[in-house]
Amino acid sequence: MDPLIVLITGCSSGIGLSLAVKLANDEQKRFKVYATMRNLTKKEALEEAAGTTLNHTLEIKKLDVCCERSIKECVESIPGRRVDILINNAGVGLIGPIECQSLEEMQRVFDTNFFGVVRMIKEVLPDMKKRRSGHIVMISSVMGLQGIMFNDIYAASKFAVEGFCESLLYQTMKFNIFLTLVEPGPVVTEFEMKTHEEAMRGDYSKTDRETADMFMNHYLKNTRAVFSSLGQTPEDVAEHVLHVITKKKPQFRHQTNQVYTPVTALKHADPRGGLANDLFYKLVFQHASLMHASLHAIKLIRWKAHKVQQGARMLGLL
Ligand SMILES: NC(=O)c1ccc[n+]([C@@H]2O[C@H](COP(=O)([O-])OP(=O)(O)OC[C@H]3O[C@@H](n4cnc5c(N)ncnc54)[C@H](OP(=O)(O)O)[C@@H]3O)[C@@H](O)[C@H]2O)c1
Repeated sequence: MDPLIVLITGCSSGIGLSLAVKLANDEQKRFKVYATMRNLTKKEALEEAAGTTLNHTLEIKKLDVCCERSIKECVESIPGRRVDILINNAGVGLIGPIECQSLEEMQRVFDTNFFGVVRMIKEVLPDMKKRRSGHIVMISSVMGLQGIMFNDIYAASKFAVEGFCESLLYQTMKFNIFLTLVEPGPVVTEFEMKTHEEAMRGDYSKTDRETADMFMNHYLKNTRAVFSSLGQTPEDVAEHVLHVITKKKPQFRHQTNQVYTPVTALKHADPRGGLANDLFYKLVFQHASLMHASLHAIKLIRWKAHKVQQGARMLGLL
């Protein structure tokens, strides 16, 4: 059988890079991967990770999701414009008090995270409709389901992706095209580092002292703790995506981090919003030490589970 043609955006680092390499190394050779990035001067890390798959099951191409011409040129360069699986992974973050963010910065987030997805889908959907087959995967986020303090614009951009896909879904179903929203929790990649570094350099003179303190001394500290206790690796997320794209009937939503699922479930447990909002507010402002103790306990449990898994593997039980 011919391999499935996979196009992935944002492969210079993180989830995109891991996923491209994972699919290119598939033992059953089920995929031909077009791993794209907006800036080819950053391709070295991917080339190195791709190893012998480079220019065989993996090809690197230039694609900027904010530029229609770049998208068109990339898709036109693929034989027969055939994309069986599109993975919309490219994304940027933005954290901090909104008074300190310019509208241009906010628009850049939407232009990448939301309109980037829309541009990509507009380019490949007509061909998929003609073939009556295809799968489009969005690397969304749990923040596409539940907003988090100081992530107002980023969460809004992921909510936009979720709403867009929920609406598009019925049309694509009619054409036998699958849509999947993959919703990771925290993932330890350059994303967090870049957003954190930008935040540390930020100018918070446009907000009041209390808000600046909440952001710098509570939010940033809490985020570090959350990433180190609950964070997944990009390889973990890549494994989930592989699972999703190899299913006969892929589901519409897929959360990658079980520890995070209860957080998003609260919202559905109380549609008036009280339960989730109350819990988050109290955890951050009234029971911070309880939250940190719980995060620490989770980190310990995950570490132990990892060690047990390693042991089982060494004994050949897994
Ligand atoms: N890390 C997390 O905690 C987390 C959690 C949930 C969801 N996600 C989502 O996962 C996706 C991947 O993020 P990551 O964690 O792997 O971060 P990452 O390592 O920073 O990767 C983001 C990728 O997107 C690319 N990108 C940015 N703007 C682009 C544009 N205009 N055109 C094409 N590519 C562009 C970046 O390229 P450059 O190198 O050129 O900037 C980079 O390759 C994002 O959509 C993010 O929202 C991340």
